[in-house]
Amino acid sequence: MPSRTSAPPDRRLPLVVTSDGELLEDLLRLAAAGGIEVEVAADPAAARTRWRPSPLVLVGSDQAQPCLRARLPRRSRLVLVGRFGDVESGWQVAELLGAEHVAVLPAAEPWLVDRFADCGIEGGAPARMVALVGGRGGAGASVLAGGLAVTAARARLRTLLLDADPLGGGLDLVLGWEQLEGLRWPALTAADGRVDAPALVRALPSRGDLVVLSWDRGDLIAVPAEAVAATLDAARRSRDFVVVDLPRQLDDAAVTAVQAADRTFVVVPAELRATAAAARVVAAVAPHCSDLSVIVRGPAPGRLRATEVAKALGLPLAGSLRPEPGLCRGLERGEAPAAGGRGPLAELCQRIVTELTGQPAAGAA
Ligand SMILES: Nc1ncnc2c1ncn2[C@@H]1O[C@H](COP(=O)(O)OP(=O)(O)OP(=O)(O)O)[C@@H](O)[C@H]1O
Ligand SMILES: [Mg+2]
Repeated sequence: MPSRTSAPPDRRLPLVVTSDGELLEDLLRLAAAGGIEVEVAADPAAARTRWRPSPLVLVGSDQAQPCLRARLPRRSRLVLVGRFGDVESGWQVAELLGAEHVAVLPAAEPWLVDRFADCGIEGGAPARMVALVGGRGGAGASVLAGGLAVTAARARLRTLLLDADPLGGGLDLVLGWEQLEGLRWPALTAADGRVDAPALVRALPSRGDLVVLSWDRGDLIAVPAEAVAATLDAARRSRDFVVVDLPRQLDDAAVTAVQAADRTFVVVPAELRATAAAARVVAAVAPHCSDLSVIVRGPAPGRLRATEVAKALGLPLAGSLRPEPGLCRGLERGEAPAAGGRGPLAELCQRIVTELTGQPAAGAA
């Protein structure tokens, strides 16, 4: 039987046929960069049952002759792969095998990452993505972003929480994760703004199914919009759920994130002045959003209703949050929001995650 890493049983995964340990290591790395796991068969006998159903088959140069001798059926999306020097003699075999391509490593690495990524998109739905913006300073947007990410991860969704607010102080702090090892924004972007996609998941601070891309507490350096786009692209392929915490003043990077989001929420305290401030934020954000709605946070010192706030902003009301003093105390102690699964914030997060993903979100532990 082919072996595979811990993949969901219903995903149709690419098949790698090789018993060359070094080649396999390279291909597993490239698959990870493409955001997908693979099935591995050491020889044609092990490959036979997966040969036809796999969306893509990569035959290592070491197994080309054995596959030919085993008379495996011809199929599309078959690639012969090997290192420079190993594969030259394989052109003829490739033709006999019916391989569409001969991928010579390391030159073909980016091409293979793209082929793996294609399988990921076809084999599993791309991540759902939400963006949060505060209607005024201190509205509760970052806490809600943290709560959504924690809730999604509790529902066993592979989740990325992305901090797109350079002045927010670092989202890792919202989770109490500042001591966790891992890369933060400035270090992740290369000088030319490219994001090393495989580094994304491996190098970020993580716990269980949640990874966080946060700002550090170093100098303020703008992240190029291309870096955010590349990060989101990689995340869409390799994660199930992505949460972006936006700055109130949208920069190019934030616009890129809003445009990519399936839903955007503006968080507004139930106060008149907050509603007035939020109107300006909404005016700037709305043109970039496909689906913008309001979440109103209590208390309401002047008894302003959530529906009135939403009406004043001309947006649908997505939810409201009752005051939760225990949450502030927990945050100060470094407890992640919604981690216990109970309370107004956790319940709102569970509803939103379920609406977006169809995945029932767990309540109190
Ligand atoms: N659901 C909540 N219940 C009670 N207090 C909350 C809640 N959400 C946020 N707070 C309080 O409000 C403070 C500000 O929240 P948060 O940092 O999420 O706001 P923000 O909109 O992201 O602000 P910024 O303008 O800094 O980005 C928190 O430190 C916390 O004390
Ligand atoms: Mg914030």
